[in-house]
Amino acid sequence: MSDLDVAHSADDLIDALRADVRAGLTAEQKWLPAKWFYDARGSELFERITALPEYYPTRSEREVLGREAVEIAEVTSARTLVELGSGSSEKTRLLLDALIGHGSLETFVPLDVSASALAEATTAIAGDYPGLAVRGVVGDFTAHLDLLPGDRPRLVAFLGGTIGNFLPADRLTFLRSVRGVLDAGEWLLLGTDLVKDEATLVRAYDDAAGVTAEFDRNVLRVINAGLGANFDPGAFEHVAHWDPVHEWIEMRLRARVRQVVRIPGADLEVSFAEGEHIRTEISAKFRQAKVGDELTAAGFTAVRWWTDARSRYGVTLARAAD
Ligand code: AVJ
Repeated sequence: MSDLDVAHSADDLIDALRADVRAGLTAEQKWLPAKWFYDARGSELFERITALPEYYPTRSEREVLGREAVEIAEVTSARTLVELGSGSSEKTRLLLDALIGHGSLETFVPLDVSASALAEATTAIAGDYPGLAVRGVVGDFTAHLDLLPGDRPRLVAFLGGTIGNFLPADRLTFLRSVRGVLDAGEWLLLGTDLVKDEATLVRAYDDAAGVTAEFDRNVLRVINAGLGANFDPGAFEHVAHWDPVHEWIEMRLRARVRQVVRIPGADLEVSFAEGEHIRTEISAKFRQAKVGDELTAAGFTAVRWWTDARSRYGVTLARAAD
């Protein structure tokens, strides 16, 4: 059984894109929110990224979940699994299998901005898990958390390291808002990529086959399609920059030549100097203590911490505090 709730209409989506493009591309340091990568093409490109030899986070996280899913089921006895930013929900199957094996799970709620990725995932999972109620929500996990259905206790999974896309202040706001929709004793499973040597990090965000570069430039195509803009994606070079002070990877699109871009849907003309860049994503990397402190500040208690064998990636199981 599956159904899909749409938290925002196509018009709302264009309004939000317009507002973000105006704010970001008129700023002194141009930037765009990372969520706009993920139209159908962007979601496909991201799926390809997860299979690249350089992009270790997906495999490291799968290693941890494969090893610990049964433990997660035993500790939480979750009746509902909510997955924020679920994408294709592939790793979710490890959790579903364990929670169903444990006998507690009734409902799966994947929430994603990409309607296409979500529709595919809900259909596939509903087909493979006949006893499970699958209730997909098309929405933005920064705005539509209040829509989460399902019986308690719920386990909210926020995997992939996507928490790293928030700026630090927004991260705390977000974690508090997750805490706000949970009752004391409910659960959060959080995936965080870890600080490591710069070369490994930069390679993961600038792969030899150029898939990440295409993914990065996809945001320009999204703006062209949504706001009638005339970005030439080929006129921008993909850059992955490690910021050792903030401990985050910054993805940038750097103008190869001086240019002016028209964005009629935002009533905007944007000039780029040669070499000027748009910051398109930050992907923060963590240390165990930082994760624990931030969870505590947001009203959670970390009860388990696991990493893959190479300590590249961390997974925390946290309980909503009283
Ligand atoms: C899906 C946000 C976790 O930050 O590693 C992959 C997105 N960006 N390659 C990440 C991404 C460039 C990814 N997250």
